[in-house]
This record gives sequence, C-alpha cells and structure tokens, in this order.
Amino acid sequence: MIYLDSAATSFQKPAAVRYAVCEAMGTMSSPGRGGYESAMLAAEAVLDCRTALADLFCVKDPERVVFTSSATHGLNAAIRSLVRPGDPVVISGYEHNAVWRPLWGIGADIRVAASPLFEPEAAVEAFRRMLPGAKAAVCTQVSNVFGYILPIREIAALCREEGVPLIVDASQGAGSVGLDFDGLGCAFAAMPGHKGLLGPQGTGVLLCRDSRVEPLLYGGTGSMSREAAMPDFLPDRMEAGTHNVPGIAGLLAGVRWLQMRTCPAVLYHERALLAAFSAALADDSRVRQFRAKDPSQQAGVLSVQLRGLDCEEAAARLAERGVAVRAGLHCAPLAHRTAGTLEEGTVRFSFSPFNTEREVLLAARAVKDILK
Ligand code: ALA
Repeated sequence: MIYLDSAATSFQKPAAVRYAVCEAMGTMSSPGRGGYESAMLAAEAVLDCRTALADLFCVKDPERVVFTSSATHGLNAAIRSLVRPGDPVVISGYEHNAVWRPLWGIGADIRVAASPLFEPEAAVEAFRRMLPGAKAAVCTQVSNVFGYILPIREIAALCREEGVPLIVDASQGAGSVGLDFDGLGCAFAAMPGHKGLLGPQGTGVLLCRDSRVEPLLYGGTGSMSREAAMPDFLPDRMEAGTHNVPGIAGLLAGVRWLQMRTCPAVLYHERALLAAFSAALADDSRVRQFRAKDPSQQAGVLSVQLRGLDCEEAAARLAERGVAVRAGLHCAPLAHRTAGTLEEGTVRFSFSPFNTEREVLLAARAVKDILK
C-alpha cells in the first residue's frame, strides 16, 4: 500500500513508537498513584513527554501541557472554557467540525472570517474587520483539507491588540510547521498526538496559557483528594482519571524522533513530495490541483478534483490500485464552502516523513490510470 492519508492519521510510525507502547504495557502502571517502581516509571514517562512537548512548542512550564484523548477533546475543553451561549466568536473559513460543532452546540454567535484559499493577507484583513467585540477567536494553523498555512502569527497579534482570547487548532501543523505557543500569546492550542507527532491514536495535547480552563471531565487526579472541587492547578485540573500511559509513552517516542529529525526537515521533505506529485500531474488538464503559488503557504497536503470522476469513486479506484487517500469533505465542510468545493468535495493526498518520491510518482501514475 502507498499510504497518502497522513492527514487522517500518520499510519506509518517510527519503530520506536510501537516498541515504547509495548514496553509501557509491560512495565508501567499509573503515575502519581504510588511510590513503587511501575508507578514511578509511568510518572517519569508522562513527565518526560510533557517536557518534550513543552520544548517543541515553546511552553515555558511543562505543567501547562495537558494530555487529552484527541484534538477534538482539547478543542471542546478550550471552547467551553471561553464561550457561553450567544457569545460572538470569530473563526477562520477553514475550521474543522471539531471547532464548528462545539460552538454550534453551545449556541455561540459564530462569525466566519472567510477569505480565499492561499491569500493570507485577506485572512488577516477578515479577522481585523470581525474581531472587535468578539468574546473569543479560533483559527486553524493549517487546513486539513488544503494544507493552507494560515497567517497565525498576524492573527494572534490582532487578537492580542483587541484583547480577544485565541484558540489555535494546531492539528495539521504539529510536527512540521513550528508553533511558538508562549510567543503567540494565545489562550489555548490543541492537537492530536497521532498525526504529525507520530504517537498512537487516543492521544492528544492541549497547551494552556494558564489554569483558567474548565475541565470536561471531573474525577480523581491523585491530588487534593479530600476536596469535591477539581484542583485549581494544571495539569491536574484537566487530567481526571487514569492516564493513557502506553499512548503517552508512544507519543514520547514520536516526539523524540521528531526532535532528532526536526520539524523543518519534515516540512521540507513533505513539500518536496507534494511538488513531485503535483509536477507529475501538471500536464493533465483533467486534474484540478489546489496548490499555493507560493510554496511557503502550503504544508504537505494537496487536494485535487478529477474532471468527470466523483471524488469518492476516485478514492475507491485508487484504493483498488493500492493507494490510500481520503475523499469527500474531510469533516471540514466550512473549508470546502470557503474554497468553493462543498458540492463535489475533493480527493486529498497527504504526505508523511515516511513517504518516498517513488511512492508519490507511482500514485500520480495511478491517478492517470483511473482517469483513462
Ligand atoms: N480531521 C482528520 C482528517 O482530516 C481526521 O482526515
């Protein structure tokens, strides 16, 4: 199989990740619940992972790195901490349902700062116009559908000027596009552990500016056990229940692999694959590519439409040829609406540090085959 669906999950992981998960299952119990060896090993792995993530995302205090079960979990917690029914909230035109649905569920007054694809200046202008009076803002760092890198630094600066707390959805950028969390001054950033961070599914991370955050889950934390209220300090406030220790140990192995390889090197590799794939299809007028003119505006995700072929049908035919991609709306109808692809959807090719040029050239040949 040629796996080009890393935007759904990074199926190919460093071998160390699988090893760390198995090793944790055989040696680690629950952190913070005892002084015996297996509990201490678990506590060490959890703290090491928190510290490695704090380093990677420029968070001064590792305790402001909270483990969640997914990016969706973190986004729900962040949104519920800042937004009440009726509150005006500004979001970009490229948000995932993990942002849109929680806001809709709360009954927020959702204001979409829509702007055309790969036009960062227009995105900044849209936020500038809409931010005054908003209670919160949410912006994705990288579109999961188009790989479009939004101008998060400029949008964060506008939010600071207006005093509007910003939530960054870093799901698609984490592990390739850098994020200076403390430097941006945003309130929260959420991400999964299983995409670019190369950890197992069931892991996620929420970076918090401070402890003013509403837990989604209430329960035991191994601290302040006499109190009915959840602890008022991080990370305990947000980590009720037993940790996913094997998942976190695997995530640590993924993050360590990234620290050695470095995020810029991963981004460079993924962009090179995207460019090779795109060039191999450039002479085919039946392939409409959603590609930034300026390569620095796009991460390793490319959406295409194939003339005369429904996108789901195209993905099924590619699967028959051993090429794994995702087609349709990618849980991001808003992004498709903004880009004008809501009716037809797109076929999305997403690249990983483990894909090779040979694989993407074979995939391009498969695209040509299915169009015959
Ligand atoms: N949001 C993920 C995707 O883009 C799952 O496929």
